Amino acid sequence: MPALVLLGAQWGDEGKGKATDLLGGSVDYVVRYQGGNNAGHTVVVGDQKYALHLLPSGILSPDCTPVIGNGVVVDPSVLFSELNGLNERGVDTSKLLISGNAHIITPYNVTVDKVTERFLGKRKIGTTGRGIGPTYADKINRVGIRIQDLYDESILTQKVEAALDGKNQLLTKVFNRRAIEAGQVVEELLSYADRLKPYVADTVLVLNQALEDDKVVLFEGGQGTLLDIDHGTYPFVTSSNPTAGGACTGSGVGPTKISRVIGILKAYTTRVGSGPFPTELFDEDGEALRRIGGERGVTTGRDRRCGWFDAVIARYATRVNGLTDFFLTKLDVLTGWEQIPVCVAYEIDGKRVEELPYSQTDFHHAKPIYETLPGWSEDITKAKSFADLPKNAQNYVKALEEMSGAPISAIGVGPGRDETIEINSFL
Ligand code: IMP
Repeated sequence: MPALVLLGAQWGDEGKGKATDLLGGSVDYVVRYQGGNNAGHTVVVGDQKYALHLLPSGILSPDCTPVIGNGVVVDPSVLFSELNGLNERGVDTSKLLISGNAHIITPYNVTVDKVTERFLGKRKIGTTGRGIGPTYADKINRVGIRIQDLYDESILTQKVEAALDGKNQLLTKVFNRRAIEAGQVVEELLSYADRLKPYVADTVLVLNQALEDDKVVLFEGGQGTLLDIDHGTYPFVTSSNPTAGGACTGSGVGPTKISRVIGILKAYTTRVGSGPFPTELFDEDGEALRRIGGERGVTTGRDRRCGWFDAVIARYATRVNGLTDFFLTKLDVLTGWEQIPVCVAYEIDGKRVEELPYSQTDFHHAKPIYETLPGWSEDITKAKSFADLPKNAQNYVKALEEMSGAPISAIGVGPGRDETIEINSFL
């Protein structure tokens, strides 16, 4: 019963699509367990490139069943436009399964996300504006709307009215916006019901049975460890649990069933949105990483903030996720630097600190302590094995592995699907 979790070990955008590509045809189920259409995976199949936001990447493999678990928040209009886009390109999407317990991102959740960010001004989180936070807030406040509610009009109406009671007070009296009419929202949500119906399933049962039948199940995390609502750089985080535990709560598969937890780690660091980022670069090196690495968000089109590799963060990711392996991505982006600094610890108020400080104030004051490793200039995109890498690139990988606390089992050396070095098999 191989159940693998694949998650971002930094602030998201580590290149998870690459790891999914490597597992390719051997996976029977690909499950999203948290987040919504704030994520962005680029998956390349043949000469076709697909940008997915909500759908699990398994949607592109004909033998794989893609699953949207109970922990995901679903915007039906986005789901349909993503499905339509794939269908127009000849992709069969009929195997998709969606948990009836997944929450719906309603139009008012999107409105609240946008007005709240505007209201926060320079203290804003820099959200994707897709209604993610307000939808999870409704879930926790027990006024959320679930997929299954679409099949009972009376319950749906009561729930939408209850959710809008407080929000309309806020929208009209605090944010100076027009009130949202419950009837219109109910009508819009009901219009999605028939098309969603064939996909709705008891995904907890399906996944547990699949594992009993020895199928390979891959849990695909959105965002990354440092954006986790509990373990990330709160409040500059997303509103769900991208860390490994989220795979269990967001799918209904118990922790004893998980066999591997693979952290995707970029050979340098990026972040989108606001919040602390100790190794961020504001010079031409940062600009070069952005340009060479193509560091622009798949979902929002925003430029990503870029910086050197941070081993303190990688060690933290190993710990909070219980990582068994790393997949190091985008090593080729570093080709051409004579020297590559790597952050090995922080200096906080004059003291050397080896581990991520639990205090937000300390983390905001953290200054990186760098060790500099010699770079390489040879093209590494054709490397097929670790031995094919130039000595300095090998040493860079080995140093990162030693500092990060888990074996690096695969290395991405170029954007192409097969530009990956596999060291230890994930299956
Ligand atoms: P939200 O998820 O839209 O609420 O945004 C909260 C924070 O998470 C913001 O800083 C976003 O930029 C960041 N974020 C959300 N999704 C992603 C992602 O897929 N990659 C990187 N950052 C993300």
